Amino acid sequence: MVARIDRVLITGASSGIGFDMAQRFLAAGSRVAINGRDTEKLARAQRALAHDDRVVAVPADVSKVDEARRLVSHALEALGGLDVLVNNAGIFAAKPLLQTAESDFDQLIATNLKGTYFVTQAAVPHLIAAGGGAVINLGAALAFQGKRRLSVSAVMASKGGVHALTVAWAAELAPHAIRVNTLAPGIIRTALAGDNPDARSGIVPLGRIGEVRDTSEAALYLARADFVTGTVLEVDGGYSHGR
Ligand SMILES: NC(=O)c1ccc[n+]([C@@H]2O[C@H](COP(=O)([O-])OP(=O)(O)OC[C@H]3O[C@@H](n4cnc5c(N)ncnc54)[C@H](OP(=O)(O)O)[C@@H]3O)[C@@H](O)[C@H]2O)c1
Repeated sequence: MVARIDRVLITGASSGIGFDMAQRFLAAGSRVAINGRDTEKLARAQRALAHDDRVVAVPADVSKVDEARRLVSHALEALGGLDVLVNNAGIFAAKPLLQTAESDFDQLIATNLKGTYFVTQAAVPHLIAAGGGAVINLGAALAFQGKRRLSVSAVMASKGGVHALTVAWAAELAPHAIRVNTLAPGIIRTALAGDNPDARSGIVPLGRIGEVRDTSEAALYLARADFVTGTVLEVDGGYSHGR
């Protein structure tokens, strides 16, 4: 079976990694539903992307289960079905264990882990109806190893959970021809990576930080790679495996 990429839903696609993915899928001929919380920002992204009616914008907060379900149902109605889901919406906050409030922890888990869980739950019946498809999650290379100088245990818990969902769902959904994979980016040049991300290029074996094209190329590969499921693919210039 040749993997279809005709109808694609990308959460958190109003900026950064998700926005570039939307551009790349459009260039590959897909119709794309983009999402974000901020309706103005999302409308600007839609205008920047849209040359025709192949882009639909659906504002929703994926951390809220009712909004996640509404997002999927509106996107599906507009696209007429679904072939690829990219669970990209995510947030980052570095805080030491002793300074992390319950609300900090809940927000990270609700957006990064619970959002991924319930958007996927809402989308899977439609992927089954399409005869199969691809789910691509956004994990994080930083979840693989602790760092003395970067306190991100709550982020690691949320993204490590996404890595675990990937292997669980790959097996559970394989009988439906649904492949589930995850991209684990290192440092990618977006607003989330903060000011002057190049200052950290010294810790990357390939000697540079990542660009959004790096994650988009990997997402297109995973969307099409018919015999690949359950993998967590580092897009990090080698940073997870050596310095
Ligand atoms: N950049 C990196 O170095 C890096 C490294 C590892 C992993 N990642 C992961 O890559 C993904 C994309 O990150 P990015 O760097 O592109 O960040 P970004 O530029 O800040 O974009 C994040 C996107 O997610 C949306 N978003 C955030 N919370 C949301 C929510 N609750 N519901 C719906 N949309 C939401 C944002 O829209 P609004 O502003 O409207 O909410 C925005 O469109 C995230 O999952 C992130 O954890 C990034």
